[in-house]
Amino acid sequence: MPREFLDLASAAACHRENGRWELLYRMLWRLTHGTPELLRLATDDDVRQFRRFAAVRRDVHKMHAFVRFRKIAGPKGDESFVAWHRPDHRIVRLAAPFFVRRFSVMRWAILTPDASALWDGESLRFGAGVAAPTGLRRDDLEGLWKAYYAATFNPARLNPKAMKREMALRHWPTLPEAELIPDLMRDVSRRVETMLETTEGFAMSAADFLPQEQDLESLREASAGCEGCPLYQDATQTVFGKGPEHARVVMVGEVPGDMEDRQGDPFVGPAGKLLDDALREAGIDRGTVYVTNAVKHFKFKIVGGGRRLHQKPGIREIKACKPWLEAELDAIQPEVVVCLGATAAQSVIATDFRITKQRGEVFHTDYAPVTLATYHPSAILRAPDKAARAKMYDMLLEDLRTAARHLDVAEPELAVER
Ligand code: URA
Ligand code: SF4
Repeated sequence: MPREFLDLASAAACHRENGRWELLYRMLWRLTHGTPELLRLATDDDVRQFRRFAAVRRDVHKMHAFVRFRKIAGPKGDESFVAWHRPDHRIVRLAAPFFVRRFSVMRWAILTPDASALWDGESLRFGAGVAAPTGLRRDDLEGLWKAYYAATFNPARLNPKAMKREMALRHWPTLPEAELIPDLMRDVSRRVETMLETTEGFAMSAADFLPQEQDLESLREASAGCEGCPLYQDATQTVFGKGPEHARVVMVGEVPGDMEDRQGDPFVGPAGKLLDDALREAGIDRGTVYVTNAVKHFKFKIVGGGRRLHQKPGIREIKACKPWLEAELDAIQPEVVVCLGATAAQSVIATDFRITKQRGEVFHTDYAPVTLATYHPSAILRAPDKAARAKMYDMLLEDLRTAARHLDVAEPELAVER
């Protein structure tokens, strides 16, 4: 059994919905009877359902973040701590070991409607659930917690709508710091500004999901499980880059579109077709090109008729996803990087990059001796009329030819070796 299956299955088993045992059994059967690559079939119905069930890991993270202990007098007058929490799924057993590691010297109990976890300083036991919070008193611990929260408060995360989504309102009454939120919000816009200038506000990123081995295959596999920003929640799958390990040219787009999201490969839709044509016309062999995106999950909003309308990724998503792009470029060590559009150029060349002013200019970056940016094929497809489109296409060709010339320069050395 692949290790990945066991990890995901132990999470999926905690999902509250019916049908999880049947699904797990079916997965097990298929994995051992002719479909060992099952987990890689991202569009398979069973696999999608399985990944949806396994997403209870998010609920585990929330429990880790939102459980608040209160001090009470224990059975023999000694000090104990108790918390009440209502997780969405049956995850108490999955979440409890974290609290053992974190609070190993305390005696504590976490009560939930489904089950309770008790730690006496030596062993972890599980018991019945508790319907409603009883016997929780306010005390000094709350003051301590508030001080801690105010000190570490991250204003970039203070988005009331997102907070309500992430932290279901029913958790709020048991969170002492909820009282502080109105005060903190008053101060927020100035603090957000300072934080946007520094990078540390973006605590979440793909960096937490990078594998040990950083060859392209390992990276691609690990990226399938990335939860470095919220985009993974609604997209079908991670669309990782594609092309040879030793590609001489890397093309960096913005974000996968609808077709890329369904198919799992970058630039397979209309923009990809235009790009293929332009590469051919510029004399760049498609076989030497690796194609990827600055952001690896499709971003969209649902519009009339259920259509998924492409959305531009924001600065946070671009930053969160950058570790993948950097790792790809480190693994490939290309001679030339071509950024398609401003988003890629801002991620790779400079945050204030302007396509209209700087396209076609050659930069030396950490990623490649020759790095340049040009129009995004989608921008060309959206041009207002035929003439504008033709003009932009010519500029794209011109920039790709610049890239091709730099590849030619490297040829003589190869000729000598031969
Ligand atoms: N546009 C992009 O930026 N990337 C794709 O993969 C497809 C369209
Ligand atoms: Fe991870 Fe990038 Fe997907 Fe966000 S968009 S979840 S950072 S792969």
